[in-house]
Amino acid sequence: MDNHPPMKLRRRRRAFLWGVLMILTVSVALPTAVTWVAAQDAEHANPRAEFWRAVRQGAAGFSTVRGPQANVLIDSRGEDWRLLRNGPVAGFGAVAMGSMVVLLLLYSILHGRVRIEGGRSGRTIPRWSLFNRTLHWYTAILFIVLAITGLSLLYGRAVLIPWLGLDAFAAYAAFAKLVHNYLGPAFAIGVVLILVLWLRFNLPEKTDWQWIKAGGGLLGRGRHPHCGFMNPGEKIFTYGSMLVLGIVVVATGFVLDFPNVPQPRATYQLSQLLHDAAALLWITIMLGHIYLGLWGVEGALEGMVSGEVDENWARQHHDLWYEQVKQGTATQEAIRGPQGGGAGTPEPGRPSTV
Ligand code: HEM
Repeated sequence: MDNHPPMKLRRRRRAFLWGVLMILTVSVALPTAVTWVAAQDAEHANPRAEFWRAVRQGAAGFSTVRGPQANVLIDSRGEDWRLLRNGPVAGFGAVAMGSMVVLLLLYSILHGRVRIEGGRSGRTIPRWSLFNRTLHWYTAILFIVLAITGLSLLYGRAVLIPWLGLDAFAAYAAFAKLVHNYLGPAFAIGVVLILVLWLRFNLPEKTDWQWIKAGGGLLGRGRHPHCGFMNPGEKIFTYGSMLVLGIVVVATGFVLDFPNVPQPRATYQLSQLLHDAAALLWITIMLGHIYLGLWGVEGALEGMVSGEVDENWARQHHDLWYEQVKQGTATQEAIRGPQGGGAGTPEPGRPSTV
């Protein structure tokens, strides 16, 4: 009996084996060939490609223009700066400001306004002089304009373009930038004056710790802790934020306002990131201050508008200062400001004019 498979079957087997062999050969040979060709190409690579790669990575060339990095055509750190600004910095600001708004809404709903205990007495005492009120509102209004224009520049692409469209946003952004750049130095004057002239109101006092432990009387409805002319909340957050964040914002703002002063681009980029981060944190804190001043604490705004506060408000929030005023030992001249005048008669306890 013939055990050999039929001829046709043998041919098929052989064809199959040859097929497998060819596939294996091609799958090894082809990548090897491609790699070899690429290696040959790299040996004869276009030197201009290397040149442009170096330019892209910030290599310095030659330029007759003078100034730091004038001979660097492309500073690739600019891309890192852009990613940091539009990513973590802008994101941090949005989360911080958004959280503060939510917190204030919750506080307002759950706790409500801090009312004047026993209602208004109908008698007022002078608290802020005309000079100090003017200084406050000059600085506050500039702060608000700078915050609106600054936020428009940072978040405009994401928030305003879909709303205004490209052309209207371009016109607004150009205007906002101009306003921001020119009003910055004017705001710096207000910041410096407040820091210098109001320092004496914001020095630490023995009673501050008790006030902090009692949460400033803002939480719960217990007795308001003892307090002098300024409470530690104002000292730490309002004045303190101006001392730390205000100085950072103003100093970096000056660097940004004068790009033609010779300085490395890295200084400019770092200043911009610091300026944004500090300003965003400051705006977040000032949202709390504005809420408390406008609405949260009944009777506080009057002091900054007319210069006078109700006696019951003074007794409730600043009892130690109130006692001094009553005993005639308060630093009223200090309170009335370096220029004096403006808050009406310094005589305490006169009928309300508010
Ligand atoms: C609508 C906005 C604002 C309102 C309603 C407001 C209201 C007030 C009020 C009522 C006081 C006096 C509190 C007291 O007598 O104890 C005050 C103090 C103060 N405000 Fe404002 N303010 C506003 C915006 C600002 C802004 C934007 C800034 C900063 C740039 C600012 C900085 C200050 C400072 C530094 C004090 C004194 C706090 C201290 O010395 O500790 N205010 N504000």
